[in-house]
Amino acid sequence: MSTYTIDSSTSRANPAPAPGKRLTVPALRGRKGEEPIVALTAYTMRTAQLLDPHCDLLLVGDSLGQVIYGLPSTVPVTLDMMCAHGAAVVRGSWHALVAVDMPFGSDEASPSQAFASAARVMKETGAAAVKLEGGEAMAETVAFLTARGIPVIGHVGLTPQAVNALGGYRARGRDEAEAAKILGDARAVADAGCFALVLEGVMEEIAVEATRTVACPTIGIGASAQCDGQILVTEDMLGLFERTPRFVKTFGDLAGAIGSAASAYAADVRARSFPTEEQIYRPK
Ligand code: KIV
Repeated sequence: MSTYTIDSSTSRANPAPAPGKRLTVPALRGRKGEEPIVALTAYTMRTAQLLDPHCDLLLVGDSLGQVIYGLPSTVPVTLDMMCAHGAAVVRGSWHALVAVDMPFGSDEASPSQAFASAARVMKETGAAAVKLEGGEAMAETVAFLTARGIPVIGHVGLTPQAVNALGGYRARGRDEAEAAKILGDARAVADAGCFALVLEGVMEEIAVEATRTVACPTIGIGASAQCDGQILVTEDMLGLFERTPRFVKTFGDLAGAIGSAASAYAADVRARSFPTEEQIYRPK
C-alpha cells in the first residue's frame, strides 16, 4: 500500500515523482509467487491519479481504442494515441509502474521496427516499460528490446490485435493443440526476457501451468486466480458498460452514477434551478 496522499485539490497532474520512487521493473519481476500484482488499465491523467495508490502496475492498454475512441477493435490504434495517453498517465501517477501497449503495426515487422517504436513510446511518455502481444513469433523481438534497455511485458492467449486471424474474442486453449501452442508461446516470450506476462482469455489449467513453469510473474485476465497478479480494463470493472464479459467482476456502477448525475443536471437546467446564488458571480 502507498505511503503518500493524492493531491485531489487540483484537477492538474501532480508534479513528477522523485526519480526511483516508483515501483521498478526488478521489483515487479520479484513478485513471482509473492504478493499478487494489482494491475488496471488507465488512459487519462485523473483516472491514473485515482488508481495509482491502489495499483502496482498501470497499463495504458490499446483497449483505449474501444473504450475511449469507440473503435471496433484495437487494430486501428496508432502510436500517436498511445504516446499521448501514456504521457497523461505518467503525469497522473507516481507510485505504480506504468507500461504502454505497442499498437498493432508498430512492432511486428522486425525487431528494429519494434525498437524504434518502443523507444519513441518511452521517450515521449516517460513510461518504464512496453507491452507487446504475441508468442513465439515475437520472441526474437522481446530479446532484442530487453537487451537494449527496454523492459517488456508479454501478452499471450487471446491477443485482441489478432482478432481478424482468430475470428473473434472467444477464450483460447479448448483443445490440446491450442493449449500446447499457448504454453509454448508463454515460455518463448518469458525465456526471451519478459519481466511479466499477461495471460488473457485462456482455459484455467493453461494459466496455472504457465504460471508454474515460466520464470516471470503472470498477470491474468480471464485466466486464473493462481496467476501472480490480475488485470482488468478499469471501465469494465467500474461498470461503465452495459455488457460485462464473463471474466469481469464489476466493483462499481459508474454507468448508473453518470446517468443519475446527468439526469439530475438536466432536470435542474430545465427547471432553471441551476445555477443558484452559490454558483454565480456578482460585483462585490
Ligand atoms: O489493451 C489492454 O487493455 C490490455 C489488457 C486488457 C491486458 O491488453
